[in-house]
Amino acid sequence: MSPSTRSFSALLALAVSLSTFSQSVSAQDPPMSTYPPTALADKHFAYPTGIPYKVDTDQGLIRGFQHGYNQCNSTTENQKSLCQTSFLNSIDDFCLWAPDLPESIVANTEGEMVAWCTKPGRGTRLIPANALKGVQFMRTPDYVQVVGFIDQSKINIQSADYGGEMDPHGADLRGNPMGGLMYSNAFSGGADNFQQVIEWHNFMGGNGFCLKACDPAGPNAAHFCEHRLDRIGCAYNAPNNAQNGTFEACKGDNQDFPGVYTAEGGAVVTYTQPPEEQGAISTMPYQPKVPASSECQQFTSAVLYKALASVTAAIDSTVTAAPTGGAHGSGTGKGAPVKTGTAAGAQNTTNDAQTIVAGGLVTVFGVVFSAMFFS
Ligand SMILES: *[C@@H]1O[C@H](CO)[C@@H](O)[C@H](O)[C@H]1NC(C)=O
Ligand SMILES: *[C@@H]1O[C@H](CO)[C@@H](O)[C@H](O)[C@H]1NC(C)=O
Repeated sequence: MSPSTRSFSALLALAVSLSTFSQSVSAQDPPMSTYPPTALADKHFAYPTGIPYKVDTDQGLIRGFQHGYNQCNSTTENQKSLCQTSFLNSIDDFCLWAPDLPESIVANTEGEMVAWCTKPGRGTRLIPANALKGVQFMRTPDYVQVVGFIDQSKINIQSADYGGEMDPHGADLRGNPMGGLMYSNAFSGGADNFQQVIEWHNFMGGNGFCLKACDPAGPNAAHFCEHRLDRIGCAYNAPNNAQNGTFEACKGDNQDFPGVYTAEGGAVVTYTQPPEEQGAISTMPYQPKVPASSECQQFTSAVLYKALASVTAAIDSTVTAAPTGGAHGSGTGKGAPVKTGTAAGAQNTTNDAQTIVAGGLVTVFGVVFSAMFFS
């Protein structure tokens, strides 16, 4: 079964259960539908004046309403901001998608994620001081990418969560998060010339992350920013040699398209991700190539992220040593200390397939949602 078939059948299952639910609430409600008239990836807005309050406003869709908003300004700039307009510009200027509320699981909140940024001034939350432990920014002919290590509890992700993928598609084409927009000045001359990035992907989890923004003018943007391989993490979707404790910006060659590799004997093969029902992915048929890089410049995090110095986390992991309330595999099984999987690339930079096992100990809820909306 292809990933889209898998996603679709999971979606259908949820659609059935949700419509049963809504019928029991009121027989008068109009039937819910899955797809918006216009896919998120087809909605394009000039920054900042063309951006509406919310970009996802259709009624009666199965996943409900957009959680936050896209018009973000000084009024919305605080640690409760629900701004869903994000940026990837440079090593000192990027945002990550992370949950609204503390101690969340990525798989359960990916549709509602909000922007957490390194720079003030755009109406978003700020990443708390000392959350970023190592960051590598890479500029290549077709994309910019930031990969790093983070204390994810400081951005509301349970510390043991192996995470998941955000991208502007999702099985229902509303994106994860729904209505999330991405901008960059990396392809449009820098400074305040922000251009909408149409294809991007962001893996969060395992105290690591990777975010790639593909050049909208590039002929292969959708391939470099592939969004179907949601279970094999940064190591396969954004092969990198980022190091914990190091902050650097480099130039690099393009990666292979995620999932595309050259087998022994020279044939070019496209990997197909097995469906969730087959359990954890324990072996991979290839090791992704980390592209060559050059002109790396190293920085001090306190200088890069000066503006974050006084930003504190809602949950301070140095105080809350062990998350309570079932964070580590209570009856719900949420956040069971599975082997780091999804964002593993940041850590497992040798890309040993044996160490990059997507977590299999998720709840049925988590599995359904990851099957549905990661792609
Ligand atoms: C600031 O953003 C909020 C939320 O999108 C919006 O309601 C408000 O009108 C904006 N304020 C200004 C001055 O643009
Ligand atoms: C990165 O290094 C910090 C120490 O600076 C450590 O606490 C953290 O666990 C490391 N992160 C990962 C994902 O290995």
